[in-house]
Amino acid sequence: MSDLSPIGADLIPPASWVAERAAADGPVADAAHRPAWSGVGPLVELCLALMAAHPGLRRLAYRTFFQVLARRSQDAAWWTCMNYGYAPCDGPPGDAPVPPHAGAEAAERTSLQLYDHVAAAVPLAGREVLEVGCGEGRHLIQIAKAFPEARCIGVDIDPTGMKQAREAFAKARLDKRIELVAGEIGDAVADGSVDAVVMIEVLHEIAPGIRQAVIDGCAKALAPEGWLLIVDETYPSTLAQAREADYLFPVQTGFEELTWGNVLPTRAEQDTLLADAGFTDVQRSAVGDIFTVITARKA
Ligand SMILES: C[S@@+](CC[C@H](N)C(=O)[O-])C[C@H]1O[C@@H](n2cnc3c(N)ncnc32)[C@H](O)[C@@H]1O
Repeated sequence: MSDLSPIGADLIPPASWVAERAAADGPVADAAHRPAWSGVGPLVELCLALMAAHPGLRRLAYRTFFQVLARRSQDAAWWTCMNYGYAPCDGPPGDAPVPPHAGAEAAERTSLQLYDHVAAAVPLAGREVLEVGCGEGRHLIQIAKAFPEARCIGVDIDPTGMKQAREAFAKARLDKRIELVAGEIGDAVADGSVDAVVMIEVLHEIAPGIRQAVIDGCAKALAPEGWLLIVDETYPSTLAQAREADYLFPVQTGFEELTWGNVLPTRAEQDTLLADAGFTDVQRSAVGDIFTVITARKA
């Protein structure tokens, strides 16, 4: 079985099958294949049709939309995390314990809890921790407070999030303890210098063509036996996996993610990225039927 992907040929019916169905269904098929947005108004229809025809325009529109959203959210002190969160299964999500050091941002308890859940996999006390794709830096604040001896560094490519992270570090009086670098991993840390690299809901946002370079960068940054901790959506690699509960959410959201340019990594791709970067002892666990937690060790 070939590796599946959200745009994999395995999931797209052959053109002959589509033509046969269209011929058999007649006018009903025409109605069913009309774009979902038809009837919303000529101007909106024109914009959506242009976006559908020109992927570059679509990307620009989404980027602009998310930038505006990010700017407008600057006053929303309660929204600093950009992950789906984690809550233990033995109670409703609202009952999830507030993570230690959560402070005023306890409203984001499940998002912070996800970090706690992942960080608990490895010892971080007194260690050097690099977060790749740190967003607005909320987790780095949590680590810095929980582990006063730890050295924390964040790297991200989004200047808007970094600006907010800097402001948050200063407000928490942690700006001397947390370093923030815009750009590449190699710009942020020396080779072989960090004990753990954390990537929460970032891998699927990295363009497939540069994913190996980013994972190689993580390996290069880590000291021997250092840990890589990843949380991400995992697209199934086989049809058998596609039927498993662990892949329910990625199968559902794979196409949606594509509309803003993200291609979910398949399980096979994740395994290859890690193996090719020299990681061993790869362990996986599921968070609900949504995300995969992967821990791996630098050989
Ligand atoms: C969904 S957000 C997650 C942010 C944060 N980890 C959290 O859980 O709140 C994904 C983050 O990955 C960052 N990102 C995307 N591609 C990246 C890359 N190549 N290198 C570093 N960061 C990247 C984005 O700018 C964004 O801040």
